[in-house]
Amino acid sequence: MTSIRALQQRAKIEPQEFWAEAAEGIHWDQPWQQVLDDRAAPLYRWFDGAMINTCYNAVDRHVEAGFGDQVAIHYDSPVTDTAYAITYAELQAQVARLAGALRAQGVEKSDRVVIYMPMVPETVYAMLACARLGAIHSVVFGGFAAAELATRIDDACPKLVLSASCGIEPSGVVPYKPLLDNALELAQHPVERCLILQRPQCSAVLHEGRDLDWHQAQHGVEPADCVPVAATDPLYILYTSGTTGTPKGVVRDNGGHAVALHWSMKAIYDIDPGDTFWAASDVGWVVGHSYIVYGPLLARATTVLYEGKPVGTPDPGAFWRVIEQYQVKSFFTAPTAIRAIKREDPNTEYLQRYDISTLKALYLAGERCDPDTLNWAMDTLKVPVVDHWWQTETGWAICANPLGIEPLPIKAGSPSLAVPGYQVEVLDEEGNPMAAGQSGAIAIRLPLPPGTLPTLWGNDQRYIDSYLSRYPGYYLTGDAGYQDEEGYLYIMSRIDDIINVAGHRLSTGRFEEVLAQHPAVAEVAVIGVADKLKGQVPLGLVVLKSGVELGEDELYQQLIALVRKEIGPVAAFKLVSVINKLPKTRSGKILRGTMRKMADNQDYVVPATIEDPAALDLVHNTLVRLGYGKGRVTG
Ligand code: COA
Ligand code: AMP
Repeated sequence: MTSIRALQQRAKIEPQEFWAEAAEGIHWDQPWQQVLDDRAAPLYRWFDGAMINTCYNAVDRHVEAGFGDQVAIHYDSPVTDTAYAITYAELQAQVARLAGALRAQGVEKSDRVVIYMPMVPETVYAMLACARLGAIHSVVFGGFAAAELATRIDDACPKLVLSASCGIEPSGVVPYKPLLDNALELAQHPVERCLILQRPQCSAVLHEGRDLDWHQAQHGVEPADCVPVAATDPLYILYTSGTTGTPKGVVRDNGGHAVALHWSMKAIYDIDPGDTFWAASDVGWVVGHSYIVYGPLLARATTVLYEGKPVGTPDPGAFWRVIEQYQVKSFFTAPTAIRAIKREDPNTEYLQRYDISTLKALYLAGERCDPDTLNWAMDTLKVPVVDHWWQTETGWAICANPLGIEPLPIKAGSPSLAVPGYQVEVLDEEGNPMAAGQSGAIAIRLPLPPGTLPTLWGNDQRYIDSYLSRYPGYYLTGDAGYQDEEGYLYIMSRIDDIINVAGHRLSTGRFEEVLAQHPAVAEVAVIGVADKLKGQVPLGLVVLKSGVELGEDELYQQLIALVRKEIGPVAAFKLVSVINKLPKTRSGKILRGTMRKMADNQDYVVPATIEDPAALDLVHNTLVRLGYGKGRVTG
């Protein structure tokens, strides 16, 4: 077995040879001229000159190789009591027909298509149909509200929007169409055509002249073939929270993405063709893009598309039922999901009802995995639990325990070592490497490996400013932490205003923008505070304008409703309090970091530049009243 450290060295010293070898797992319509094009450094491009089609690699080539009868997708939907399998041949037919319908509506290579849909097979067909035509999809998570969808529509400028009548949550049917209609009214960019999938649980009213029924749009159309595109052409844009309220449009290319994901399926997840892999996430997130759709299909594995939750659909045995039913070999979810199961099934009574002996490993990501959760999972499932660390921007794991290369000793609290291709360093303020055990900003030496973001959509400068300028020659991850003597990384916090709620990445800046819209609010600060189930939840502190007569309870209800309306239910905004004054520096900067530390009961230093130390006492009192800590002053 090759050792992970030997592969790390090889990828560092001979990146071009390393990735050219990995690229042999992919079908190219035309070979590349250069594996790595560094002419525009710090912007890099992989497999320059090559032509490829991602859909062909994920679907058609497997059918041509004789695997048309293999199951590509197990769709399992406890919320609609539906389950069926889709073979690779059926997937090819569905995708080709939908691509034909998109083309009939004028969608061609490089056009953008926004997809706002629930976890149904048609969403996967939609993504692959775009890839088939060389069109660029942008999936928007269903838990986002109309205003968030509108922002993304205005940035991506899609020719077409694909949506469905509803999503189904444990709380009931969530009609999507009114949200879409509202978003199209809010957006500046005119969308001329929408395809709407009518689900039996809820019928959407179609807007005449603009909306077409999903199935009718496919009647009589010519199925479309795969269109080869440049390896460096975008496959998709996926918006993610930045520090400001405006989301960042992370671009994924076709060639590097296919190579990296295909390679990762074996190296990291130990999945061979024909194995069943399940990522219990949502296609609206990067985990869904990479490991519900593209990764498993590129590797000719069978993927599971699960429309349900870890608990409540119907019980905390749901995940184990799915693993048994589809003989899942590697399973990927967020630590929050395991915490939710542990809370409802602490003695593993539900787990014991199922035979999960096919399961070889559990993979966790999306948020920091606390050692308790990791240890509980390992003790109860009796398989290795791999905490791995990555981001929307990278598209695949930066650090992991790569079971397909060499299983490493597990250290709870650490996502293990850098994956070959990533050179991860912990840096101090000046950009010097920190000694083992010392905390600093985590950065990755350029170039990033294939599959990571080449830029932000239409905005090279924002990419450079946000990620590449802080430490020249490095990509700034936005995470902070340390490495131990053996190179194991520990991700401890963010260096910016991003919070992580149940594995969902959200911007406190966006919460603040929304709360500031309320007529009673003069000033606001939102911080993430520790939560036993969701990792973090947002907490809003608002200073009111003088003369506000609204009762506090009514105000809180209005503020909570406003965030839900503007950002969406996924924001999980429930904690808000009025405060007379926010702690600030003399130059007017709100001391969010200090408040965060107080809330999480950590040590903090009162900044010498504080304008009014009494404001910190007000925060103390409020946090304690809400059931949070008040920190320990150390200076
Ligand atoms: N469409 C519409 N609404 C959605 C939605 C979607 N796709 N996804 C979530 N929501 C809604 C939920 O219904 C809920 O609404 P509510 O306030 O009316 O109850 C709200 O958004 C928050 O949802 P969620 O984050 O799922 O929290 P929850 O309290 O309902 O459930 C868990 C808690 C732990 C079960 C849940 O957070 C979970 O499954 N977490 C795993 C996270 C995960 O897989 N992350 C992906 C990154 S890898
Ligand atoms: P997202 O872009 O939504 O995938 O969120 C990425 C962020 O989630 C990272 O930058 C980290 O802050 C956090 N994150 C993801 N995985 C892990 C992990 N395994 N350990 C610690 N933090 C993680």
